[in-house]
Amino acid sequence: MRRIGILTAGGDTPALNATIFGAVERANQLDLEVFGFLRGYSGVIDERVPHVHLNPLFTTIPELDPSVGGTCLGASRTYIDDSSSDLLEDVKTNLSQLEIDALLCIGGDGTINGMQPIAEFLPCVLAPKTIDNDLGLNYLDEPNEWIRAEDPTTGEATFNRQNGRESISLDEIINYATPGYATAVFVVAQGVQRIRTTAESHRRIAIIEVMGRQSGYIALGAAYGQPDIILMPEVPIDMEKLERRVRELYELQNHVVIVVGEGVRDESGTPLGGKESSVDPAGNILYKGAAEGLKQILAKRLGAEPFQRIRKHEDPSSALFTRKVGHTQRGGRPVRFDRFYASQLGGKAIDLLMEGKNNEIATLQWSETDGFVLDSISANKLRDKWRGIHPRIVHGSLYDENRFQPSALGVEYLRTIFTNAIGTDDMEHLRSKLFSPGNLATRYQSVNIDIQKRIRYA
Ligand code: F6P
Repeated sequence: MRRIGILTAGGDTPALNATIFGAVERANQLDLEVFGFLRGYSGVIDERVPHVHLNPLFTTIPELDPSVGGTCLGASRTYIDDSSSDLLEDVKTNLSQLEIDALLCIGGDGTINGMQPIAEFLPCVLAPKTIDNDLGLNYLDEPNEWIRAEDPTTGEATFNRQNGRESISLDEIINYATPGYATAVFVVAQGVQRIRTTAESHRRIAIIEVMGRQSGYIALGAAYGQPDIILMPEVPIDMEKLERRVRELYELQNHVVIVVGEGVRDESGTPLGGKESSVDPAGNILYKGAAEGLKQILAKRLGAEPFQRIRKHEDPSSALFTRKVGHTQRGGRPVRFDRFYASQLGGKAIDLLMEGKNNEIATLQWSETDGFVLDSISANKLRDKWRGIHPRIVHGSLYDENRFQPSALGVEYLRTIFTNAIGTDDMEHLRSKLFSPGNLATRYQSVNIDIQKRIRYA
C-alpha cells in the first residue's frame, strides 16, 4: 500500500480535522501518501477528482490543524448508494487514475452506508464522527431486531425494531462515544445554563431544542446544564405527565427549563418537528420546529392562569419561549476529549487498512477495567438483514422517563465521557484568544483560501 485517499462526508463536526490529522501523522510514520478528496463523496464522483496532497515528503501540511473545528477538506451530504452503478463506475475510474490503494472515509451512518458499495472494489475503512453519537450499537445483536414492512400500495418500506433488550451494561456498547459529541454537549450544557438566567429572572418557561435527529444523546448530555426536564426522541411524550411536572415546577420555582431533542415525538409517535418530512440526500428526515411545536401544545394546556398570577402585568403569551442551540453545537474548537480520541481513531483507521481490513470501522470502546480503548468492528455487523445501517438510539435504560432525567446508568455513561473532557488548554485558549485585540485588527483567515492553492486534479 502506497497511497491512501481520505474524505470527510456528511455534516461537519468539530473533530474532523483532528481525525484527518491523526490519520496523516500515522501515514507519515509508515511512508504512506495521503490524498484528501474535497467535499466528501462529491470529490470522488467529480471527473476532475479535486484533491489535496496532505503529506508531501511525509510531512503534514500546516493547513491541517487538529484544534480547529470543521474540515479543511470540506464536506457535503452527497450520497452514493449501490443502485447508482454508473456513479460507482466513475468512482472506480477516478480513484484508479490517481492510483489510490485504499480509502479512509470519516463520517457517520450516512457515510458508512455510502461506503458499502465502494468497499466492493477498493479497501475502505471508516473513522467515525458525528455530534449525534448515533453510529454504533447498544449491543452486538441489535441489528437483528429490525423488521421490515412494506406499504402494499406504494411499495415503500419502513423499518421498526422489535424485542429490544430491557437492560444493557455499558461495556457492551459498540463505539461508545463518537468524536464531535463531547464538544456538542459542551456547547449545549452552557447554552442551557445561560438560557436559564432569563427564564428564572422573568418567570418564563424556556424550551431549548438540541440536535441529534432521532437519537437523544445530545439531549441526554444536556443534563450537565441542569435543565428541569429532558425530552428524548426515543420516548413518545406523555403530555399529561409533562403538563403535571411543568405546573409543579412552575409553582415551585416560578420558571422551567425544558430541553427537547429535535426528533421528539407525541404520544402517537409523530415527530413534533418533522411533520413536513422532507429528507436530505441520505434519506434522513430534516427535523424543524420541535420546540415550537411543544410550545404550542403547552401554551394550550397551561392556559393563561399560572402566568397571570405569577407574572402580573405581563402578557401571558410571552411566558413560553423557544431557542435552538443550532449549528453552534456543531462548530468551533473541539474540546480535549474529541481532539484526543479523534486523532487516535484516525491513526487506528490507517492501521486497519495496513492490516488488510476492508469495510471495517475504527471504534472507541469503554470498560470499567480498561477505560477507553481503540478497537474495530466489521461494518457488516452493523447491518440489518436488508443490509441497511440504522442510527443508534439511546438505550431505554439510560433515561428515566418518570423524572425526565438520565437514569443512574445514564449518569454513569455520561460520567465516563465527560469528567475531564475539557482540557485546561481549552480554557486557556478561550481566555487568551477570544478578546485578543488581533481579532479586531485582522480579517478572518479562511483555510479554504490556502487549501485552494494546493488543489490538484486528476
Ligand atoms: O447529523 C448531524 C446533524 O447536525 C443533526 O443533528 C441535524 O439534524 C442535522 O445534522 C442538521 O443538518 P444541516 O446542517 O444540513 O441543517
